[in-house]
Amino acid sequence: MPGVALVGSGSADLPATLTNDDLSQLVDTSDDWIASRTGIRQRHLAGADDSLASLAAAAGKNALAMAGLAPEEVQLIVLATSTPDDLFGSACQVQTLLGASRAVAFDLTAACSGFVFALVTAAQYIYTGVFQNVLVIGADVLSRWTDWDDRRTCVLFGDGAGAVVMQRQDDSQGTEEPGNGLLGFELCSDGTLNNCLNLSYQVASKPLVGDLTVQQGQFVPITMNGREVYKFAVSRVPEVIEKALFRANLTTADVDWLLLHQANQRILDAVADRLKIPRDRVLSNMIHHGNTSAASIPLALDEAVRSGQVQPGDVIATAGFGAGLTWGAAIVRWG
Ligand code: ACO
Repeated sequence: MPGVALVGSGSADLPATLTNDDLSQLVDTSDDWIASRTGIRQRHLAGADDSLASLAAAAGKNALAMAGLAPEEVQLIVLATSTPDDLFGSACQVQTLLGASRAVAFDLTAACSGFVFALVTAAQYIYTGVFQNVLVIGADVLSRWTDWDDRRTCVLFGDGAGAVVMQRQDDSQGTEEPGNGLLGFELCSDGTLNNCLNLSYQVASKPLVGDLTVQQGQFVPITMNGREVYKFAVSRVPEVIEKALFRANLTTADVDWLLLHQANQRILDAVADRLKIPRDRVLSNMIHHGNTSAASIPLALDEAVRSGQVQPGDVIATAGFGAGLTWGAAIVRWG
C-alpha cells in the first residue's frame, strides 16, 4: 500500500486584528477576563475584499510553494469549512483561484474537527492509489456568523485559513512499506450533543400557492453552551488521542508536539496534563488568532513549521473537536 507524506504547509495573511480592548468597546468584557479564561488576546478578521475562497486559495498557494508543486499537479482539493461563500460549496472557486485545473474539489463540513476529518479523508484517496498530490485546506470566516452582542461567544472567534499538501509515497523497490505520514487516527461523532454548539437555520413558513407552503428562513449566529463544550473537550479529546496513538503503536512519550484545535488555552492545558505531555510540547497560537475553527490546526502547524519549531520527522498528535458534536485525532509525522 502506498504511504502518505505531509510535504508542505501554508496559511493566509489577514492583516486586520481585533484586540480584547477593541471588544471591550462592543460588549461588557475586559482584556483580563478574556485572556485569563481563554488565553486569547487578539484575533484576525477577513478584509472587505476577502472571501472564504480567496483566503483558502492564499493558504493553498503557500502550501503548494513549500511543497514545490505546480497547481496543475494537484489531483484533489478538500476544503474543510463551515462558512462557505456559497452553500453549494466553495472548493471549486478555490480550484479556479489556484489554477488547479486538473483537481477535483469538494467541501467537507465538520466544524472545528473539519481539518482532521479532511486530512484523514484525503489520506484514504492516497492509500487506494487514486491520487498522488492532495491539497487539504481548513478555512473559516466565523466573523460572518458571530453574534457581536453576545460576550460569551464573540470574544472567542477569529478568521483564518491554513493548508497542507499530502503526497503519495511509493516504495520504488517493492520490498518494504514506504514511510507513512499518517500513523494512526480515530474519528467520532455524537449528535445527541448537537444543541451544545450551533449555527442553525431558522425556518419561516411562507405560503406558496393554495395550501402549499415552503419553509424559507435564514441562518442565525452561533450559539454555544460553553460549559458543556468545555467538559466534552477535556474528557473526550485525551481519550481520542490515546486511541489514535494505540492504532499508531505509539505512546505519548513518542509525541514531539501536541497540536489541538485552538479553542481555549485552558482546554489545551487540561488535555496536555491528562496525557502527561509537558506544556513545552504543546503548540499554541490562539493568543494571536483566537478560535479559527477548521483553520486553527493547519494555521498553527504552518507557523510552527516556518518558525523551525516543528522539524522533519517530528511526530505530532493533532486533534479537532467542535460542533456536531464531532471530534477526532490524527497522529502524523511531519515531512
Ligand atoms: N467577559 C466578561 N464576563 C463574561 C464573558 C466575557 N467575555 N463571557 C461570560 N462572562 C460571564 C458570564 O456572564 C458569567 O457571569 P454570571 O456568573 O454573572 O452569569 C460568568 O462570566 C461565567 O460564565 P461562563 O460561561 O460560565 O464562563 P466560563 O468560565 O465557562 O468560560 C468559556 C466561558 C471561556 C466560553 C468556556 O466555557 C469555554 O472555553 N468553553 C469551551 C468553548 C469552546 O472551546 N468552544 C469552541 C469549541 S467548538 C468550536 O471551536 C466552534
